[in-house]
Amino acid sequence: MSDRNLSRSKTKLRSRAWFDNPENADMTALYLERYMNFGLSLEELQSDKPIIGIAQTGSDLSPCNRHHLELAKRIRDGIIEAGGIPLEFPVHPIQETGKRPTAGLDRNLAYIGLVEVIYGYPLDGVVLTIGCDKTTPACLMAAATVNIPAIALSVGPMLNGWYKGERTGSGTIVWKARELLAAGEIDYQGFIKLVASSAPSTGYCNTMGTATTMNSLAEALGMQLPYSAAIPAPHRDRQECAYRTGKRIVDMVHEDLKPSDILTKEAFINAIRVNSAIGGSTNAPIHLNALARHIGVDLKIEEWQQYGEEVPLLVNLMPAGEYLGEDYHHAGGVPAVVGQLIKHGLIHENALTANGKTIGENCRDAVIEDERVIRPFEQPLKLAAGFRVLSGNLFDSAVMKVSVISPEFRERYLSDPTSPNAFTGRAIVFDGPEDYHHRIDDESLNIDEHCILFMRGAGPIGYPGAAEVVNMRAPNYLLKRGVTSLACIGDGRQSGTSGSPSILNASPEAAAGGNLAILQTGDQVRVDLNDNTVNVLISDAEIEKRRAALEAAGGFQYPAHQTPWQEMQRGVVGQMGSGMVLENAVKYQRIAQV
Ligand code: FES
Ligand code: MG
Repeated sequence: MSDRNLSRSKTKLRSRAWFDNPENADMTALYLERYMNFGLSLEELQSDKPIIGIAQTGSDLSPCNRHHLELAKRIRDGIIEAGGIPLEFPVHPIQETGKRPTAGLDRNLAYIGLVEVIYGYPLDGVVLTIGCDKTTPACLMAAATVNIPAIALSVGPMLNGWYKGERTGSGTIVWKARELLAAGEIDYQGFIKLVASSAPSTGYCNTMGTATTMNSLAEALGMQLPYSAAIPAPHRDRQECAYRTGKRIVDMVHEDLKPSDILTKEAFINAIRVNSAIGGSTNAPIHLNALARHIGVDLKIEEWQQYGEEVPLLVNLMPAGEYLGEDYHHAGGVPAVVGQLIKHGLIHENALTANGKTIGENCRDAVIEDERVIRPFEQPLKLAAGFRVLSGNLFDSAVMKVSVISPEFRERYLSDPTSPNAFTGRAIVFDGPEDYHHRIDDESLNIDEHCILFMRGAGPIGYPGAAEVVNMRAPNYLLKRGVTSLACIGDGRQSGTSGSPSILNASPEAAAGGNLAILQTGDQVRVDLNDNTVNVLISDAEIEKRRAALEAAGGFQYPAHQTPWQEMQRGVVGQMGSGMVLENAVKYQRIAQV
């Protein structure tokens, strides 16, 4: 037994305050009789067996995570085997593709609900069942706030999608199918069939979208057992992983190994670097910055560029590459990637992980099993695959994946020899996704291949939860001429399954006083990747004049609240650059009490 174990094993179980508290006999009896009602004996409830919550994110409304309903059986087996008592409970469902207006709205709702459950019930530890995009950050954020021993279990990616002998990746295929439909190469039914082929089984998206990203980062942060992220959902190894996760959480309670021991600054830096190496989603900075704030680690948006930008892309998964989730697993998953980064001094090896070992111990000797899918560090798919953080007179921060700029895009926008890596374009401004859908094909806008499309009113307040709409397609009349991508900038998000080099997550958003609100169609905007700036080419005086006119007209307008939660969240939510958190929740840190 390590010193940690020796010193901490005497810690009184938190659940005893409910179930074995002679000083409060009335309440103790009331707590006990109901939990005994579902079959637990008095001896069990007053024993030294830790009570382990299983935070269940799967349901019929959450198909990506639905397999957790099965996996929970093996989690339970593991908990019981290790001497714990499992109690499973539901988490507010978040289905990325099913929730209107956007699943982004519900990350903080699931978070706040889960905080109440973990805090308010007799739990000594918790297994977080993660998977579909927002379920992962919501669960990790809640565990961070309460800070009882917690371990995550991925549901695992779907099997690979196939169509006519080619891999089709969930989410990513939509962008391609849309182009084929617009070009008249497939019809509506063909479109649906092609898209549906990409999602052949239970599990989360098989591409390197936000789900694979966040599940990989949960492992890189140390919150899952090694190799947990990438095992496909239907594989039997996934069942075994659930069992081992259940066993392990019981030991974590005895060791008092808490999120605050694992989620250190070093762990976040590791995760930022892994995010670059895997080609992770632009949603990752939002979610990791939120997690950092809830655990009390100082992590600034600029640090994504500082630590992540120079890291090469090693994982060859769609949308940046060719392969899918099954291939990622067979090639060695997260440990193989971390192992490469360790060899080049890019990982803080002493960061502690859920299995009680350091990430160095877990991953140092991990090998790549298939170099087509996970490249050795010396043969990357791309150099400098991380994010740039841009700023200027339109916003304080926005992120961009410079490495996904296509040769065609570079040729069109960035080839002026007098100002390499910079361009000036005419702004076409859309107020939210509906406005964009209505007007993108309107020929009177005169959009040409040098324009910059702007999306505003799509941030956490403007479009509650922030819409994934910044990567806008070119109008049909340009698509027909073969111009598929235009420069896009906005205060919304972008799906992790899109490979577009948009400038997104702009903070502050138009609805929170950002200057995107005063931008007008026809303005000239300069993007300079030499110094990472984006500026509208008008004077400060003109900006002030437009701001005054906007205020006089009642400020930036956005759609009315549709639900109570939309209104509540709009009142307290922060900006994407700082995690889009419920700002008044951040002061509640490490609140677990015995
Ligand atoms: Fe759920 Fe992609 S939609 S993981
Ligand atoms: Mg998404």
